[in-house]
Amino acid sequence: MFASRVSRIGVLILKQLSGGKPTSISRAGYNTSSCYNQYLQPLFDQQSETKLLRGAIFHKHHLFSTVSASDSSNEGIEQKEKISVTFVDKDGEEIHIKVPTGMSMLEAAHENDIDLEGACEGSLACSTCHVIVMDMDYYNKLEEPTDEENDMLDLAFGLTETSRLGCQVIAKPELDGIRLAIPAATRNFAVDGYVPKPH
Ligand code: FES
Repeated sequence: MFASRVSRIGVLILKQLSGGKPTSISRAGYNTSSCYNQYLQPLFDQQSETKLLRGAIFHKHHLFSTVSASDSSNEGIEQKEKISVTFVDKDGEEIHIKVPTGMSMLEAAHENDIDLEGACEGSLACSTCHVIVMDMDYYNKLEEPTDEENDMLDLAFGLTETSRLGCQVIAKPELDGIRLAIPAATRNFAVDGYVPKPH
């Protein structure tokens, strides 16, 4: 498009030079000022518009990119959102901690030097991470325990209606404010070599 316009202008200039329009050609030669005004100025104006348009597109794209980066940083903030969790230890002492969403209560306890054993490190082969959810409302907000978790819970010392394995309770916003009691004792059948019978 641009090339064809340039060639058209070239043809017109040649016509002018060969005497097509006497008013726009001086005696001494070609009237360059007239030619510039008639043919080149609109072309440069068009180029300027194109540059302006490109600038606007770049600016818009840059704006959108900035918004996207801002969105992703917001996602990062959401991923690091923390909830309040209270552990109540064997002596009845309350320990308040902040737990990032996505982290298990067993990991959170270990990061905060809370005495919750977790002998199998979350592989559902023991019951030493047994915790008791102290409020039924919070218990009902948890995911249903899997069969494997239930099998291990059956072996837990001091099982209650709201017992769960700490390694299977994952922090999420709805659990903000949850209170977990650590039982006075644990049984570690898996480490002692006991294999639970399937139901
Ligand atoms: Fe063993 Fe949770 S740490 S089942």
